[in-house]
Amino acid sequence: MSFVAETRRRRTFAIISHPDAGKTTLTEKLLLFSGAIQIAGSVKARKASRHATSDWMEIEKQRGISVASSVMQMVYRDHVINLLDTPGHKDFSEDTYRVLTAVDSALMVIDAANGVEAQTRRLIEVCRQRDTPIITFVNKMDREVREPLDILDEVERELGMPCVPMTWPVGQGKSFRGIMNLRTQAMTVFESGSERLPQDFETIPLAERDTLVKRFGADFETAMESMELATGASPAWDREAFLAGKQTPVFFGSGVNNFGVMEVLDALVDLAPSPRSRTSTTLVNRQPVVKEIQPEDKDFAGVVFKVQANMDANHRDRIAFVRMASGKYTPGMKLKVQRTAKELRPTSVVTFMSQRREAVEEAYAGDIVGFTTHGGVQLGDTITDGASLQFTGLPFFAPELFMTVILKNPLRTKQLQQGLAQLGEEGAIQVFRPEIGGPMLLGAVGQLQFEVVQHRLKAEYDADVKLEGCQYTGARWITADTPAELREFVNAYPQRMAKDAADTLAFLCTSPYDVRLAQERFPKIHFHPLREHA
Ligand code: G4P
Repeated sequence: MSFVAETRRRRTFAIISHPDAGKTTLTEKLLLFSGAIQIAGSVKARKASRHATSDWMEIEKQRGISVASSVMQMVYRDHVINLLDTPGHKDFSEDTYRVLTAVDSALMVIDAANGVEAQTRRLIEVCRQRDTPIITFVNKMDREVREPLDILDEVERELGMPCVPMTWPVGQGKSFRGIMNLRTQAMTVFESGSERLPQDFETIPLAERDTLVKRFGADFETAMESMELATGASPAWDREAFLAGKQTPVFFGSGVNNFGVMEVLDALVDLAPSPRSRTSTTLVNRQPVVKEIQPEDKDFAGVVFKVQANMDANHRDRIAFVRMASGKYTPGMKLKVQRTAKELRPTSVVTFMSQRREAVEEAYAGDIVGFTTHGGVQLGDTITDGASLQFTGLPFFAPELFMTVILKNPLRTKQLQQGLAQLGEEGAIQVFRPEIGGPMLLGAVGQLQFEVVQHRLKAEYDADVKLEGCQYTGARWITADTPAELREFVNAYPQRMAKDAADTLAFLCTSPYDVRLAQERFPKIHFHPLREHA
């Protein structure tokens, strides 16, 4: 297959939802129907066994939440589909935001009874900012849920874009009869159970209206009416509008019953985009110049969007997840970390099949490649096979919660520093070093991040720490147009200055007024609530 065809047949998407909407179940069914796994239940089982085998994931077990997001690859209809899972808990939203920078589309799972829930709303905002195309799956139609028109209305309002129904439910709950596929103009008849494969469901052409009315009576007629209302009110399907994040195709089904899932898998192939260009900057005559990297470019380029401690507690190595933006990866290839200009020397290089990691034979734009290293790679790093450029857009959010780290045993200072540096590089937490000295500060977006870090410091670095509250409630990264202006500001607030893991200067605040007052005093200083990896 040609190089261009290889990139075109890739689809890289994130699956997003509020906890309990059915993300894990749907993921599993997608893997099952693409043939990536043989037995249903194995994704859930893996979730469970991960708890058993990895010590530091203990906290995940305790909380029943997913701390780390994972990557799975499958092949379906000759397309390579990369699925990126996202942690559902809001305290780990930073991790999720970064995952969303690595995909070309998103699959949003909604519980038909609950509609768009809080956590989904936040994720939608990020997708909207980036104009990420969104496919919507309305799950749990086998339950007593809301009217489909109601759900569509809510999705439209929340997403701020029109919905285009691709399937439409006939009945719901106990009288869930099936879905009408508006593309193939046929009804697929619902049967409950988790053993059935998509081809096992009966289908009846919508043209055979009399048969359908006879068999499903009022349920069918009501569904036809509401479907006609919905399609009459929504715009025609327009792929360009979908790709621009301006309309969302909507599917209905029941993940746990394997129902309506194949339609989603087909949509990923037929509707979702292949890898898109990604923005980078490069220096020309020492000036940063924006450069779009095309997936068909021959040179290898990728960005580290996630760093994760290896699951094996006995090894201190970490996996850097790289989303390839262009080129082809082959084993033994020499790659460079742009930030340090050093060669990347991984101990292993893997792709993520659904159930296992495999040594990579080749990978293309859109693929996620995992480089196991002992260090030297940070979140946001650009990796290339020579070209000097830096991808932009990986966000770090100004923390809203701060804690001071107190080491219980002062002899473990070195371990603490190593632990904090590594956890900071992973993005598990943000670490700030006050310029005037004193204990390190941890900054987080969600409270649970502190607990995970405290737990991991002890389990992985043997550094037992106490976390104490402190007066800070926010931070802003600061820049100025001239070094003199920056110096003047720093001199005015020495006790408020701290540097983060990337050595970027930040101003620590104790109230929202702080920034306003400081800004009034120093109008030329720029205060940034978000830092992009530079
Ligand atoms: P999540 O990853 O989004 O958190 O959700 P997950 O798939 O774990 O599903 C949450 C619960 O919803 C699970 O029930 C799951 O079986 C159920 N579920 C998923 N899809 C459907 C569906 O289409 N219909 C119905 N009725 N239920 C669905 P649980 O009791 O929490 O777990 P389990 O014991 O069933 O595994």
